[in-house]
Amino acid sequence: MNMIRVQLGERSYPITLGTGILPALPGLAARLGIPRQIAVVTDTRVAALHVRRLSALLRKEGCEVLEIVIARGERQKSLACANRIITRLLESHYSRRSALFAFGGGVVGDVTGFVAATFRRGIPLVQVPTTLLAQVESSIGGKTAVNHPLSKNAIGAYHQPSLVFSDTEFLATLPKREIISGVGEILKYGMLDRGIFAYLDRHIAAILAGDPSALREIILRCNRVKAKLIQDDEREERAGGGRAVLNLGHTVGHALEDLSRYRLRHGEAVVLGLRWELRLALAAGLTDKADGALFDDLLGRVPYHPSIGFIPRDRLVERLVALGASGGFVVPRKIGKVIVARDIPPSLIRSVSRAFRP
Ligand code: GLY
Repeated sequence: MNMIRVQLGERSYPITLGTGILPALPGLAARLGIPRQIAVVTDTRVAALHVRRLSALLRKEGCEVLEIVIARGERQKSLACANRIITRLLESHYSRRSALFAFGGGVVGDVTGFVAATFRRGIPLVQVPTTLLAQVESSIGGKTAVNHPLSKNAIGAYHQPSLVFSDTEFLATLPKREIISGVGEILKYGMLDRGIFAYLDRHIAAILAGDPSALREIILRCNRVKAKLIQDDEREERAGGGRAVLNLGHTVGHALEDLSRYRLRHGEAVVLGLRWELRLALAAGLTDKADGALFDDLLGRVPYHPSIGFIPRDRLVERLVALGASGGFVVPRKIGKVIVARDIPPSLIRSVSRAFRP
């Protein structure tokens, strides 16, 4: 079992990573002082496969467990879904002294995190991620949110978990699409860290094939990088760097997700976003050419080339121009160094984005 500590003073917490470690979760939660009245929020797929086992382990440790099962998909990241969870908590007389376990992928983690941040002004949250994307990325960092029809992640709060507990055994039952989605976030770390890039260059095929030891190693390496970024810039306040570098691939990615009406999953959109933003950065002369070619080659080895003709290209192009002018794009300078670029000319964003087929 590997343990990484996210050092944030009184909000510090461990990330625990291993294979077949679920039986250790109730004991660890008890040692951390997490309340024993627990609501496990999960989705229908994880409920069918795994929730009975988690609930039984918790009950064996003497916990009271309420299971709350939500539907699958990004549409559950909504105030309506958060409200349904809160209703269940209130009906079951849960209180400030209860805890929430987010047992599932990124959507479950984000909406459960949002409820944990707001129910009775905040209760402890344990993230038990079951997808590659959630184990690599979304279970760590404290950003919680639901979407508004006009904007993704528009309603949210920072609320750090008390524990992140990743058992890679859950990855064995993941559909292929979920592996590609997780790989989107993993590729991003390849651009943030030279060691991760070198590992991916050698092992990307094994990761895509779901090789357990390659998955565990890459999750561990990405978690170490993320923990450090969160420690240094918990609330994304550091100008021109800090945890904002984690948005690499996400400016275009979020636009694609939104304009596809979430037919593209988050991590899938990030794969395309990374390709798109690299093309923009190369065209703007912002990226070292040799490193850009290496990263392009790595991105090309991911067998994900969906047809996105159903997304209105004119709307997408104008959305990207507007985003370039407001927040800018996080772009790679070279492997291991990314920057926020706010001065890519609109004419260049237009010409690249009209023609590009990721
Ligand atoms: N919850 C994901 C993050 O804070 O980055």
